[in-house]
Amino acid sequence: MTTIQEILNTMDYGTAPEDSKIVREWLSKHESGFGHFINGAFTKVGETFDVQNPATGDVIARVSQGSASDVDDAVKAARAAQPKWAGLSGHERAKYLYALARHVQQHSRFLAVLESIDNGKPIRESRDGDIPLVARHFYHHAGWAELAEDEFPGAEAVGVCGQVIPWNFPLLMLAWKVAPALAAGNTVVLKPAEYTPLTALAFAQIAAECGLPKGVLNIVTGDGETGAAVVGHENIDKVAFTGSTDVGRIIRQQTAGSGKSLTLELGGKSPFIVFADADLDAAVEGVVDAIWFNQGQVCCAGSRILVAEAVAAKFEKMLRKRMETIRVGDPLDKNTDIGAIVHPVQRDRIAELVNKGASEGLDLCQGTAPEGCFYPPTLATGVSPASVLWNEEIFGPVVTLTTFRTPKDAIALANNSRYGLAASIWSENVNLCLDIAAKVKAGVVWINCTNVFDAGAGFGGYRESGFGREGGREGMAAYLKQPKLKVKKPEAAPAAPNAVPVDGAEIGMIDRTAKLYIGGKQARPDSGYVYAVNGGKKTVGHAGLGSRKDVRNAVEAAHKAAGWGKATGHNRAQVLYYIAENLSARAKEFTDRLVSFGMNNGAAKAEVETAIRRCFWYAAQADKFDGMVHQTKTNNVSIAMHEPLGVMGVACPNGSPLAAMVSLVMPAIAMGNAVIVVPSQDHPLAATDFYQVLETSDVPAGVVNIITGPRDDLAKTLAQHDDVAGMWYVGTAEGAEMVERESAGNLKQTWTEDGGARDWTSAQGQGKEFLSRATQVKNIWVPYGE
Ligand code: NAI
Repeated sequence: MTTIQEILNTMDYGTAPEDSKIVREWLSKHESGFGHFINGAFTKVGETFDVQNPATGDVIARVSQGSASDVDDAVKAARAAQPKWAGLSGHERAKYLYALARHVQQHSRFLAVLESIDNGKPIRESRDGDIPLVARHFYHHAGWAELAEDEFPGAEAVGVCGQVIPWNFPLLMLAWKVAPALAAGNTVVLKPAEYTPLTALAFAQIAAECGLPKGVLNIVTGDGETGAAVVGHENIDKVAFTGSTDVGRIIRQQTAGSGKSLTLELGGKSPFIVFADADLDAAVEGVVDAIWFNQGQVCCAGSRILVAEAVAAKFEKMLRKRMETIRVGDPLDKNTDIGAIVHPVQRDRIAELVNKGASEGLDLCQGTAPEGCFYPPTLATGVSPASVLWNEEIFGPVVTLTTFRTPKDAIALANNSRYGLAASIWSENVNLCLDIAAKVKAGVVWINCTNVFDAGAGFGGYRESGFGREGGREGMAAYLKQPKLKVKKPEAAPAAPNAVPVDGAEIGMIDRTAKLYIGGKQARPDSGYVYAVNGGKKTVGHAGLGSRKDVRNAVEAAHKAAGWGKATGHNRAQVLYYIAENLSARAKEFTDRLVSFGMNNGAAKAEVETAIRRCFWYAAQADKFDGMVHQTKTNNVSIAMHEPLGVMGVACPNGSPLAAMVSLVMPAIAMGNAVIVVPSQDHPLAATDFYQVLETSDVPAGVVNIITGPRDDLAKTLAQHDDVAGMWYVGTAEGAEMVERESAGNLKQTWTEDGGARDWTSAQGQGKEFLSRATQVKNIWVPYGE
């Protein structure tokens, strides 16, 4: 023990330990172990596993390993409770959420100490960061419960939610998931991470204390197997997962075709960009918050510093100096900056990745750390995009530093990652910051700040960082749904196309064969085949038999049309109005075409009329479906921008061949996406006529590409394609399952539906849902006011 005299002599710091007595007492009361929290009560302790304090290695609790039957009990309880919970008024639900917020505040010291003991994070962070934000989340969502009916008219709760959370912010991640779910009228089965289940169990006690109706919140502890049982349970309506990208991908595959809605918050490798005119002192402190906060175990950690060459040497020197003052040690010491790594397995993983990086010849600068489950702050310089430290999410206090010359280089380096969770930009020039914010591929952008969170702003990623948002209006929307459309008659799989060679003598009508439409040009199918299109009983024409190669060409063409996403809403609206006018001018021709498929004249006319109206409606929306500004924290507002997904695949149903295609393509392009559309397989000619409309409407080349042919094969190629960011599929149930499964590779956003569910010629074929499905929200945090 250091004496005060010694401290005064050395001017070294003394320890300031937080008292952990209340937590030790609570743990000793549960020495025999913890059961699960199911249907409002704790179950008997079953088979258990040990939970350790990572800072000491001591076993602090024994917690039950949830079996499939425990999960089943929890789901049954949640299912039974759901109708009554959803049936309460929003005001009644709000009262419970307020109570939860208040009780969290009352127990805040206990929860903060427990979190630090269980997870290893410094008490300063759990006390000033995690727990206040937990309370804030419940307060904020109490408000959403109160307002849900007014703010989301017609929407209803999704049902029973299975939620699986990680160990880096154990109670905060619980709050992010549980608060919106309950506010919206869902019930929950939550599985905390096996390293850190204790605050979730303490929260269950708080929920009981608040009188939350039984079954509304169920907590089942256990490992990945328990998590898989939750995700795979047939009676769950929605899965919300936060964790590693690898597990996220497994879950995407596992839930494919199940009809469960899914949100994934996955890994990241976020850039931290420092321009030459940045306030370098502030930026150095920013790095401390970006990567040495929570031991770097943060999905949105700024783990790649990109610094302008002109100030790189100075910045690095300042950073190294700052690193010397970072204290690694006892999480319960109020002076500790970096606590313990969550588990020895994770510590070894960090060390292994750093060693790999070192073997590549990188220059490493490390601070000091005590023996045990600790890791020193680490800076790797001279890191290139080929390095393991650049590519892998390390999830530890390890940051790389790379230099750049121009803003363009900075963007290229920042976006050189399969992830897209967050980015932090440092410059005194607000024009530059906002320009970079627009170009960086990330769901969250912090300008002259980093790792700021608030319940009022959406959080979530682009690319392989997952999809869906938590927090704010977007987060609330993810726990609500529009009443499900009834499938009238499931769509039958279209028969295999009857292929004939393009040059086959038997066609005798070669010049009338509709071609594909790729990059603004008509293109012959690569296969060299066409297929017969039947109307009633006779063949009415031929369409190109598109294949994998055509899809690849179309994706390439769509990428070249990226300028479309940057055009103003007004400009896009002009083009859509032009499409509407040109379609209108050729209404008779399109009506005749539909009649040639065997449709009666009245229905054909109505369908063409609907398609025209739809073009006008989305033209009108192109400059109106914009984002909003969230009041988040003092000194910040967050600007929630609607950005296009990028390149999208759109596979259309067989029925309503013109209306369905227009209903799907128009919202996608109105929002700035470029699309590869696979039209009705059996009646593709309305689509191939449509490209003549596109050609005369100033639609830039590559914005709409049309590939006719075997829909599900083409949809599969699109779903598998890593350069396609979003995929809409309306067809058969099997096709929908296939699309969801195959899209797991790059974790693209999907929207699938049975072709029999929607009447495309009615109001069901149009709406804001189409626009929000065609966009992703980027939250840009900017300094504002004092
Ligand atoms: P993980 O993804 O395996 O664990 C997260 C949660 O998922 C835990 O509750 C776990 O029990 C559960 N889980 C595991 N397998 C599952 C499955 N098949 N089905 C359903 N649930 C399952 O992460 P892990 O192994 O603890 O950490 C490994 C790496 O993952 C870290 O080093 C880090 O890079 C990354 N990670 C990223 C997180 C993030 O928020 N982005 C959070 C945790 C880990």
